[in-house]
Amino acid sequence: MKYSRIAGTGSYLPERILTNAELETMVDTTDEWIKSRTGIERRHIAAPGQTTVDLAEQAARRALDAAGLTPQDVDLIVFGTTTPDLIFPNCGALLQARLGIHGCPALGLEAACSGFIFALSVADKFVRMGEAKCALVIGAETLSRMLDWTDRNTAVLFGDGAGAVVLQPSDEPGILSTHLHTEGSHQDLLNCPVGVSRGFAPEADGRVPLFIRMAGAEVFKIAVRSLGSIVDETLAANNLDKSAIDWLIPHQANLRIIQATAKKLEMPMERVILTVQDHGNTSAASVPMAFDIGVRSGRVKRGELVLLEAFGGGFTWGSALIRF
Ligand code: ACO
Repeated sequence: MKYSRIAGTGSYLPERILTNAELETMVDTTDEWIKSRTGIERRHIAAPGQTTVDLAEQAARRALDAAGLTPQDVDLIVFGTTTPDLIFPNCGALLQARLGIHGCPALGLEAACSGFIFALSVADKFVRMGEAKCALVIGAETLSRMLDWTDRNTAVLFGDGAGAVVLQPSDEPGILSTHLHTEGSHQDLLNCPVGVSRGFAPEADGRVPLFIRMAGAEVFKIAVRSLGSIVDETLAANNLDKSAIDWLIPHQANLRIIQATAKKLEMPMERVILTVQDHGNTSAASVPMAFDIGVRSGRVKRGELVLLEAFGGGFTWGSALIRF
């Protein structure tokens, strides 16, 4: 049996840091409220003109360097994002051109905050089927461009960034399993209510609502429940006890959601890679950035068992169990 394995990780954050204190001057909020309800202390914001693909290119080059590979080795790109540079070509195609490579399939994949896990699952299948030997998997976002900066319910939660991994074939795992779910019936609880087909009609205040809208408390409850059940599903599929997991690398939306999943796994928070305090919620970028930070800080080591999970708009949720 062939597996895919993670040959390298990379990440990139835009320079500009927006602190909670600065947000206090923009919307009716406090550092204390944001920290106590979410764990977020600061987030990075893309510079004017800096796009999702700009961030992704840096992360991709770092992941390839870490793997000892070059862009010319890449034969598949799967790019998870909710904030593409353009409606088309997809960000995978734009990144391919940036890397100066030609001809390989390059997909864009939208699954909101689960975008990277969904992209990883797709790329894993290409590699395991022998259709790719060097897959670049990206999660990158400029969510700051899709925020209503007058809405305290959402403006304080999100940030920008990019993460990447390189997958290569291996006789040993590797990615042990991935698990993906979607539940479209709750679309009213978390969405951005405009689009090419539905249109960009302005609302009563004259603004086009190219904004994230979220019923936070309802989303919170469903996220905790769904992530709890996907942890069980992942362990059962691999016939493993929760004590086998070395690291939890969760989607970084809210510290309290992460703590709930860690508690379910009976994992001390020292075994959880946490970036939410520094990055906020970077949607598809959050898991691969946290993975890269875990690896580069020397905490996540080769041979260890790592559980990735994410939950986001759709609703979408997913997990990946990886022998790193
Ligand atoms: N500052 C101060 N007060 C605020 C702020 C703020 N920034 N935002 C909301 N409040 C107020 C609300 O108005 C409300 O006031 P009220 O009681 O007078 O009506 C009060 O705080 C409590 O609001 P809740 O929504 O109940 O707060 P909660 O404790 O649920 O925290 C949060 C809100 C942080 C959004 C939380 O619900 C959450 O993290 N939800 C899940 C987010 C998530 O996982 N999303 C999925 C991924 S996102 C994606 O896919 C794009």
